[in-house]
Amino acid sequence: MTRSQRILVTAALPYANGAIHLGHLAGAYLPADIYVRYQRLKKREILFVCGSDEHGVPITISAEKENVPPQAIVDRYHSLNKTAFEKFGMSFDVYSRTSLPLHHETALEFFLDFHKRGILKEKREKQFYDAKAKKFLPDRYVEGVCPVCSNQEARGDQCENCGTYLEPTDLINPKSKISGETPVVRETSHLYFPLGDYQKRLEEYVRQRDARDGWKQNVLNYCRSWFNDGLRDRAVTRDLDWGVKIPLPGYENKVIYVWFDAVLGYVSATKEWSQQTGKPDKWKHFWLDEKTKYVAFIGKDNVVFHCIVFPAMLMAWNDGNTNQYVLPENVPANEFLNFEGQKFSKSREWGIDAADFLSRYPADSLRYYLSVALPEYRDSDFYWKAFQAKYNNELADILGNFVNRTLAFTERTFGNVVPGCAALTDLDKSILETLKKTPLLAGDHFEHYRFREGLLEIMNLARAANKYFNDSEPWKTAKSDKERCGTTINISLQLARALAILMSPIVPFSCEKIWKMLNLQGKAGLQSWDSAKELLIPDGHTVGQAEILITKIEDNVIESELRKLAVSQTREVNHIEESSPANKNLRRQVDVPSYDSTRKEARQMITIDDFKKVDLRVAKVVECENVPKTEKLLKLQVEIGSERRQIVAGIAQHYKPDELVGKSVVVVFNLRPAKLMGHESQGMLLAASDSDDKLVYVTTSSEIASGSAVK
Ligand code: 2FM
Ligand code: ZN
Repeated sequence: MTRSQRILVTAALPYANGAIHLGHLAGAYLPADIYVRYQRLKKREILFVCGSDEHGVPITISAEKENVPPQAIVDRYHSLNKTAFEKFGMSFDVYSRTSLPLHHETALEFFLDFHKRGILKEKREKQFYDAKAKKFLPDRYVEGVCPVCSNQEARGDQCENCGTYLEPTDLINPKSKISGETPVVRETSHLYFPLGDYQKRLEEYVRQRDARDGWKQNVLNYCRSWFNDGLRDRAVTRDLDWGVKIPLPGYENKVIYVWFDAVLGYVSATKEWSQQTGKPDKWKHFWLDEKTKYVAFIGKDNVVFHCIVFPAMLMAWNDGNTNQYVLPENVPANEFLNFEGQKFSKSREWGIDAADFLSRYPADSLRYYLSVALPEYRDSDFYWKAFQAKYNNELADILGNFVNRTLAFTERTFGNVVPGCAALTDLDKSILETLKKTPLLAGDHFEHYRFREGLLEIMNLARAANKYFNDSEPWKTAKSDKERCGTTINISLQLARALAILMSPIVPFSCEKIWKMLNLQGKAGLQSWDSAKELLIPDGHTVGQAEILITKIEDNVIESELRKLAVSQTREVNHIEESSPANKNLRRQVDVPSYDSTRKEARQMITIDDFKKVDLRVAKVVECENVPKTEKLLKLQVEIGSERRQIVAGIAQHYKPDELVGKSVVVVFNLRPAKLMGHESQGMLLAASDSDDKLVYVTTSSEIASGSAVK
């Protein structure tokens, strides 16, 4: 951090029409919280803002389904999500909501300013109209058959099955979600924001901020792809009665498009914080002063709004006003976290929401595991078994064990009084050297949004601390050389203090426990990061009682989670099989990415005869290409003996097409053909993945003729 010591951090405002799940936490919220907690320890002036996004069509659709007003929906989920975030240890300075009048005023201030200055252009356009309900239909209010994959329930904005972005008029056999009737096309007016006019400046903006603060490659790639497609005008009004109402003639039945108002929710949330703290103008200090470094944490699905739409809106404002807003200095978006090999899905009941998880497991168990598995560069997965392994084998066995053994030894041998240090040995000097450099190394990673690597550095210090304890053998020197033993224990206690500070952005609750056990003043999370390397526990200080820091999670607990999952999976497969033929595609999608061992373990055992039904063959890849409009799929032409087949495999994030050509792979030869994204797959490629989610295709250890059976 060179430019400023003042930082404004925002985390995407979650929609208040559903419970936040682990994917949301790993995508945006946990990294934001680690960053903020770290910067607070660095003693920088920082403000952390979030809140509920309470407008938009998904909310009105939920309200209609439940036959309650939209306000009831947002009240429910605002409070549920706020509580879940608190339980998870999110350290927001404010958690606001966009249904507040303060927010409506802020959004209108921008909207009307743009309108007055002629920035917004009115266009007449054809739109679906529900003649029975007498309403124009926003895109999500229209459903029909996807023209790409034939999914029967594609939405007017996007097909959830194949991910294609759609216009409502692209749908085959469109139906209104309000009345179920076929909508008619009518003319209506909407106001458009001319995003294309800002393209050059936006490209320059992204280039400049990347040069200054190092943007993540995935984010730059998304931006480039939007720029390459060319930015187009975007409608910023919608035909709805829930949202920020527009006081302009002809717009009485319309509201501001939810994304236009949501990004301004960051500003109004800051204003709310200002008012709450009794300094109503303090928000300006963060938003209207170029010395602020503004960092916006989001998941990958929000990149366009934060790297393109929001900066363009702020540019448009700054062009015509004296109060100049800061633009995001960085938008460190994460990719997605999947759940046991598949996308989180509310409708398919796949995944686990944060509140549910936190009612059964300590927040730090989740914070630790998600930190290790953050989807920083590509999608990653939550696996129950990996969750248990990381928590038990790392947090408990490395951090917990070190702190507990050090404190237990201090109690037994020194009556809880910190012994002084004698002359240092090479062993002592070496661990103190590691201690000295860890805050710098880990800090550099955190500063640059590499949270997994930062955590690894700190855990390496904890590993080294355990090794130091073992190699020093204080249980022997306690009898032979008490001074030497005292030195080992003194240094170990200093290391425990350091770990409490350095780990506090990741596992704050456990670190406060360590702090308390060490009987130190204040809180671990309020110390200075740089002080972690100092030996600040004085000789003669009395530490507190040792308590078990981390209680391991038993196998049967995880097995029961996997059993529940297997039940829900069975329900899901049955449901898909019973539904329409087009949904068979979904069935295949459910099966394709699940190269995961934990889920299979939860299924029933099979006999050798069952296994014999699967005809596995060696195949040679002769051609390979990406499947257009998908992120995960590759289309392979393989030779299996004398036969040539096409196989579609979900491995595009792990291999470039060229890397597979000429390779021997193993395929399921007698799998019934299925269509994926409109491409026939005549078999399935086998691949294996570890807990780091790297997918590796299965091959033979030496060259063997294609067509050979794998037994
Ligand atoms: O994806 C979402 O959950 C959106 N509600 C995020 C909005 S972020 C910002 F614009 F408020
Ligand atoms: Zn589709």
